[in-house]
Amino acid sequence: MHISSRVRDINESITLKLNARAMELSELGKNIYNLTAGQLPFRPMNEFVEQIKNELNFLKSFQYSPVPGFKELRKKVIAYIEKTRKIELGPLGEKFDCIISNGGKHSLANALWALVDPGDEVIILAPYWVSYPQLIKFCRGVPIVVQSGPFENFTPNIEDIKKAISEKTKLIIVNSPNNPAGIHYSKEWMKEFAQLLKDNPHLSIISDEIYFEVAYFDPGPTYFYQYYPELLERTLIIDGISKALASTGLRIGYSIGPKEIIEAMSKLQGQTTSGANSLMQRALTQVDFDLIPHFMTPIRNHLRHNAQLVQDVFRNAGLAKSWYQSTSAFYFLVDFSNAPLMNSYREDKDDRTDYSEKIAEDLLNEHAIAIVPGEDFGAPNSARISLVLEAGPLKEALLLVVNFMKKGPTRQ
Ligand SMILES: Cc1ncc(COP(=O)(O)O)c(C=O)c1O
Repeated sequence: MHISSRVRDINESITLKLNARAMELSELGKNIYNLTAGQLPFRPMNEFVEQIKNELNFLKSFQYSPVPGFKELRKKVIAYIEKTRKIELGPLGEKFDCIISNGGKHSLANALWALVDPGDEVIILAPYWVSYPQLIKFCRGVPIVVQSGPFENFTPNIEDIKKAISEKTKLIIVNSPNNPAGIHYSKEWMKEFAQLLKDNPHLSIISDEIYFEVAYFDPGPTYFYQYYPELLERTLIIDGISKALASTGLRIGYSIGPKEIIEAMSKLQGQTTSGANSLMQRALTQVDFDLIPHFMTPIRNHLRHNAQLVQDVFRNAGLAKSWYQSTSAFYFLVDFSNAPLMNSYREDKDDRTDYSEKIAEDLLNEHAIAIVPGEDFGAPNSARISLVLEAGPLKEALLLVVNFMKKGPTRQ
């Protein structure tokens, strides 16, 4: 069969290749430090689990849901977003609406298919989540990347974003808290960003807020639309239960935005996947969302503790230049570009090649540490490490990583 050019043009993640090698080593009896996790190793809160059990008693839990999701849940999601983001959206379906999809990734895919025409430019802020450029390319849109690095706390300069805007720019995607940097953009940045959006009325915005509840450092995340609520008229907020309820496998995501875009996404969803999982939607309708921050407290404490551990290990190793303050999500992005190990990879001082995949391979083969190379995130010569491990093994792995950063690989 002939595979479509749309799908052929999508890149496969290099992480998959490394994961396969990690599995191979594991099967050979090697103890692997797996720092690749993008999910919490905890069970969701009991109240949610009990509601799932309870809803198993009803036939409706096994039947189709309405395409955009059950009304009760959509109302509840709108109320939760209004309360936690301190905004007003009004009654469901009047000016703003909500659609439930099969996870945040599905919400994003629906949104991009509904918004992006071939040739449209979509601005993404590096480091960015791996799926953004691939989904944009699938729509035959053009990803325009604005860079940032550890010295600016992985926060792109507003002037650089301004320069990236053209008359072809349709959309900008902003992800705060950010995967893979593990930071949320500051209040000041959001304020400036809001002004930029106000000055460019032809732009639509996707605000990917999937890690909203996973911020462990004050002040917490703020958003551009809180400064100019009229920006909500061209903003789609994406959230879901994968991170906030530690439920990546249950596949529920939400999109909240102007009625017209939700209608378009619903039309598409109706012809592709239909409504999301009825059992989960019905259980969620019964869950008190006010319990989420309470559920998150020990998780946030765990992440804060591990973020402090990263700081201590990097400082003690004399690698302070590769350290920045992570504040949210589950990740820390290690920047190798100023570390001594680069001498083992670069051919000369002007060599700008991205060696992140090679570095990840060497770390895995020599020290049994699995990390995610920065290449897929638009962050060259870096790697994402996950902060969800227990502190003991995390510290052991970090000590091996910093040693590697100082000495480089043993193979030459
Ligand atoms: C930035 C970002 N957005 C969206 C998602 C999608 O999450 P899910 O499809 O599990 O809801 C993820 C998952 O890792 C993510 O990191």
